[in-house]
Amino acid sequence: MPSNLEILISRKQIADSVARIGQQITRDFAGESVVLVGVLKGACLFLSDLARQIELDATFDFIAVRSYGTQKESAGEVQLIKDVTTPLENKNVILVEDILDTGLTFTFLQKLLQARKPRTLKFAALLDKPSRRKMPVQADYVGFQIPDKFVVGYGLDYAERFRNLPDICIYSEGAGQIV
Ligand code: IMP
Ligand code: MG
Repeated sequence: MPSNLEILISRKQIADSVARIGQQITRDFAGESVVLVGVLKGACLFLSDLARQIELDATFDFIAVRSYGTQKESAGEVQLIKDVTTPLENKNVILVEDILDTGLTFTFLQKLLQARKPRTLKFAALLDKPSRRKMPVQADYVGFQIPDKFVVGYGLDYAERFRNLPDICIYSEGAGQIV
């Protein structure tokens, strides 16, 4: 493991938490169908593990956004770059995100998806950094609340790298070379 990466949440802790969220969703929507909408690219590993823990009739779709800013922080302008193709009207939609940070992305997506008139719209975020919130939003299903540290792995990137790490790691610049 490079010296600029330090494990914050292990793959075992992730798996346990994803299983717990899957059970909660299975209970909350018993007897119904759900559409999981993953936010590319960060949520794709979380969605694929979560989907296998949901014992319901389920379909997937994906949406992609771009937020302008630095590589570590969104500047507040969120733009849609790929929409879902599934009609969401009258469906139980669960938006699946890697991390809820300022809340700007979620606020944007909530408005966009609410306009499609789903029956219910819930929000699952594997990670939550409540101290960074700029918008008054919270997730319905949360894996872990984390401190204000920049993290990578399990889908999360720094400049597109490290998404394939199996654990969630704190990334610190200056603590060593990126190797
Ligand atoms: P928000 O719009 O500020 O809530 O940010 C959500 C998006 O910012 C996430 O989907 C991530 O792509 C990115 N992000 C926020 N914090 C981190 C982090 O610690 N590591 C990697 N990406 C992050
Ligand atoms: Mg990102």
